Amino acid sequence: MSDKISYTRNGDIAVLRIQNPPVNALSLAVREGLVAGIEKAESDEGVQAVVIVGEGRAFIAGADITEFGKPPQEPFLPDVCKRIEASSRIIVASMHGVSLGGGLEIALCAHYRIAQPSARVGLPEVHLGLIPGAGATQRLPRLIGVDASLDLITSGRQVKADEALKMGIIDKIVEGDPAEVGIAYAKALLSDGAKRRAVSEMTPPEPIDWDAAYDGALKKARGQISPAQAVRAVQASVELDFDDGMLAEREMFMDLMKTDQRQGMIHAFFSERAVGNLPELKDVEPRALKSIGVIGGGTMGAGIATAALLSGFSVVLIEMKDEFVAAAHDRISGNLSGALKRGKISQDKFDELTTKALTVTTQYDALSDVDLVVEAVFEDMAVKKDVFTKLDAVCKPGAILASNTSYLDVDEIAASTLRPEDVIGLHFFSPAHVMKLLEVVVADKTAPDVVATGFALGKALGKISVRAGVCDGFIGNRILATYRTAADHMVLDGASPYQIDKALVNFGFAMGPFAVGDLAGLDIGWATRKRKAPHRHPAERVPTYVDKICEAGNFGQKTGKGYYIYEKGTRGGIPNPEVTELIKAERAERGITPRDFTDAEIVRRYMAAMVNEAAKVVGEGIAKRPLDVDMVLLFGYGFPRYWGGPMKWADLQGLAELLADIESYADENAWFWQPAPLLKQLVAEGRTFDDLNKEAAK
Ligand code: 3HC
Ligand code: NAI
Repeated sequence: MSDKISYTRNGDIAVLRIQNPPVNALSLAVREGLVAGIEKAESDEGVQAVVIVGEGRAFIAGADITEFGKPPQEPFLPDVCKRIEASSRIIVASMHGVSLGGGLEIALCAHYRIAQPSARVGLPEVHLGLIPGAGATQRLPRLIGVDASLDLITSGRQVKADEALKMGIIDKIVEGDPAEVGIAYAKALLSDGAKRRAVSEMTPPEPIDWDAAYDGALKKARGQISPAQAVRAVQASVELDFDDGMLAEREMFMDLMKTDQRQGMIHAFFSERAVGNLPELKDVEPRALKSIGVIGGGTMGAGIATAALLSGFSVVLIEMKDEFVAAAHDRISGNLSGALKRGKISQDKFDELTTKALTVTTQYDALSDVDLVVEAVFEDMAVKKDVFTKLDAVCKPGAILASNTSYLDVDEIAASTLRPEDVIGLHFFSPAHVMKLLEVVVADKTAPDVVATGFALGKALGKISVRAGVCDGFIGNRILATYRTAADHMVLDGASPYQIDKALVNFGFAMGPFAVGDLAGLDIGWATRKRKAPHRHPAERVPTYVDKICEAGNFGQKTGKGYYIYEKGTRGGIPNPEVTELIKAERAERGITPRDFTDAEIVRRYMAAMVNEAAKVVGEGIAKRPLDVDMVLLFGYGFPRYWGGPMKWADLQGLAELLADIESYADENAWFWQPAPLLKQLVAEGRTFDDLNKEAAK
């Protein structure tokens, strides 16, 4: 028998223990071992029941994702499940930790299911661009009905044991050692004369309006296909007999396996885990972190303080004047009351966080004992340098001094202190207590253990942290500036902001760039344009109509008007006709005859600009690997997860074709569309961005 499964006897009960760390994924050896284990139990005289249990931290986390995309090897998981369910012995699954995907599918083939109170179950396949492929779409509706099954399968959400019990997914919750609890349950079942109970033999549930459910799932998933496909698979459980339903599920599963979306989402899954895995940090111990200082209690400072408080840090926040102290406190309390309303924290916790754990003051001396300070004052070098000089004077030796700057030079900020090795950029995204991304900006002199501490803080705050080098805008904002410029050029040349937004939402972005501009505040871009104007290259094409919108006091959502007009009480905005007129006037002034753009062309140019700049960012070492860029765009900029990120998207499209397009755009505007040397090199060598990721992992 496979060494991934141990077989032991306890009286008339056999115990199959899955031993495939870290999470008991259903690799080939585990599948073989499970079949062999069931066969052994059936031929083992006196065995009446079999308990399946997982060793370590989980029952089973699902199919082995590393096997996806490779030729499947027998025994296939649906057949393993079928073999378990068909056993003549009573099969009990004793579940702890997670039972996900194929793991829950194994459990659904057991005749009885018992779980620890802390156990969680779910079918997360849609998050990998798939549907369950080992019978869950056929068995679960028979067990808990269509509506509850569709909820679980199309959302991929995990449910805790108590909810799973209520839904009827599990039969019992008992706390204790999972093997012992399973054996006791099996013994009780045997002494009660319980019989085998195969979910596949249960009556199929009633039909629903399948087309409506399909359309709903498609709309909700914004272009991702697997949740809608899951509806069709569940439909098969109602309309076909069990065996044909299983064949239908398998066919849909295998079809999805071939899609770009599956590749993109699995790239996202592994990249999310690889992103914090940096060779330079191997064996580097982070510094201790208990208390955090925050300078500035505006949008970002309040958000950062909220995130730190919610993760158990004590926080000292410094504001400029007494009247701003109260405002900062209110902002943080407002954020925390959101967590209170959503049931994330109790009233007692809220009270503790807003009083004992938080100090807001104008006195820098209060920072004398904090372990790390994040500066989030105005985006102005002189102000930042002044703050860092003060921090250098009051913070204890070894305290880390971080800046949340969006664009400014962290080396220059570091040079304003006597301890540049303790200075780092920690670039949070707004709202900082919600957004998952953290760019850890490593300056020339930043010490390795300071970088490691940046990552440790990110982890403690539940963020996806990405290492970035110093340049204007680091990884994300630098790339954003370029693809945003491509959109601006298309507007000058004939596309409307509204067509561009729509094309990109259809591509899968949460919002288009002009709607995002309105949300962030048009004054931010206005200030940046003014800052950059003196250093602008003569070949740069910068539209001026947006400045006119700003000059009239229209900054987007916060003033009710920007690219769109926002009526109170309505969601989203309607196109602002004044903008259309201003654009027309600017085109006329520049002598541009507007031309039509197709939606596909808009997406192609926007993405080409994004990938080209991203390739420069990787080529210059600002991002260490293409996957780092992918994670920045996914977690900070609303990039559709099912494409895996812009670099994965580019690989899937073909780098040679993309480079050819960039070169053809360069015929119109050679200054803007300078192909990235790294892109040219990869095309010449016939390699992909993912090849670079793989080389970095070696
Ligand atoms: N296959 C292969 N490797 C897996 C895996 C899986 N199903 N699940 C987790 N891993 C790996 C991770 O890549 C990671 O590897 P690393 O240490 O080399 O980076 C390691 O196990 C530990 O994982 P995490 O760092 O994510 O540990 P956590 O404790 O934070 O989370 C988890 C554990 C909740 C199990 C999380 O890993 C997870 O959600 N895994 C994916 C579960 C999933 O999607 N299952 C469905 C698979 S598809 C399927 O079953 C198809 C079937 O219907 C036919
Ligand atoms: P904000 O204007 O909302 O807040 C700045 C706060 O800093 C104000 O409350 C101000 O009173 C305080 N402040 C100014 N000088 C100070 C000093 N010397 N000591 C103490 N407090 C002082 O600005 P916001 O948006 O929070 O931005 C702060 C920083 O974060 C900027 O560097 C910005 O570029 C960066 N950032 C902003 C993002 C955003 O979306 N708003 C996203 C990521 C970074």
